[in-house]
Amino acid sequence: MQFETIAVHAGGEVDPATGAVAPPIHLSTTFEHGPAGEAPHGQLYIRDGNPTQTRLEQALAAIEGGEAAYAFASGMAAAAAYLQALPAGSHVLFHHDLYYGVRVLANDYLPRWGIEASAVDLADERAFAAALRPATRLVWAETPTNPLLEVLDLRRIAAAAHDHGASLIVDGTLATPALQRPLDLGADAVMHATTKYLGGHSDVQGGALVLRRSDPELAARLLRVRHDLGAVAAPFNSWLVLRGLRSLGCRMERHAANAMAVASALAGRPEVAAVHYPGLPSHPGHEIARRQMRAFGGMVSFRLAGGREHAQRVAGRLRLFVNATSLGGTESLIEHRASVEGAHSTAPPDLLRASIGLEHPDDLIADLMQALTG
Ligand SMILES: Cc1ncc(COP(=O)(O)O)c(C=O)c1O
Repeated sequence: MQFETIAVHAGGEVDPATGAVAPPIHLSTTFEHGPAGEAPHGQLYIRDGNPTQTRLEQALAAIEGGEAAYAFASGMAAAAAYLQALPAGSHVLFHHDLYYGVRVLANDYLPRWGIEASAVDLADERAFAAALRPATRLVWAETPTNPLLEVLDLRRIAAAAHDHGASLIVDGTLATPALQRPLDLGADAVMHATTKYLGGHSDVQGGALVLRRSDPELAARLLRVRHDLGAVAAPFNSWLVLRGLRSLGCRMERHAANAMAVASALAGRPEVAAVHYPGLPSHPGHEIARRQMRAFGGMVSFRLAGGREHAQRVAGRLRLFVNATSLGGTESLIEHRASVEGAHSTAPPDLLRASIGLEHPDDLIADLMQALTG
């Protein structure tokens, strides 16, 4: 079946108790068990799991083409759980352009957990090979990256990681499975902030891990971290993400078409020093993106010729774009990343990152043009 069909139906089985077509939300924190703690209904306590979260997990596995999926309270909770499931003494190699929060985990938390971290440009084959260590258990990629929208060749990186005996996890938040399926390209796991496009309406926080092969040992470690540290997805949040998945295919098509129109309009402007959008033929990763993505996504970053102050001035003049962090909702957002990220930020000071929404592209372009020239 095609992606759109799977996304509409996965985890959406008619409720056997009532015949309801829309999935029920089970808010119960506890489930009847037997006198010796037996679980006749399959559930015990909300921190172990709940029926709405289970539906979401089935859907996430189906849309990514994975054998197992685990939902979390946030994207960061999912990322942290995967890293915490590694044995102490491991080394993790991260791509150098990385969502800021994961960079914080790498720098501030991994050393405390007895895990070494380093970063390299995974697109640079020689540097990547040189950065692998005997203890490297995991390579962490993101493509397209946040905020520079770099593109990584996942087939090549997966092969190199596997040759070394390491796994590859891909933060697929910006592309979503509607546009790119890392597991089909050789990755072992995909991580998502479902807070973004999967939820799709800027009203729910969540995270997910999807594994290519169900791996009982890894599953046990991930579930233990999720249970013991309490990073489960709430039932209502699971339900909202599940609902978001139904329209993901349509939304991503429109996000990508709008982003392409906006990026093309910005590319010719004298006020703009550079536009980072994988759909532009001038983007260094364009050919790789054409091979591994169905469309180029809804995020556009651009750099202002007049530097930091110019970038902040332009952001301040926009009327339709809201100055706000996050991405993946129906409304267009923009932010000066360097101002919002903290101590470990590597965002260029002249960069604005835009999440292109589902408005008409002419209105978005008109707003950007008045802000650039105003
Ligand atoms: C690429 C990427 N990964 C992970 C996260 C973290 O997700 P959350 O905010 O749900 O913890 C974000 C959030 O912006 C993100 O953009």
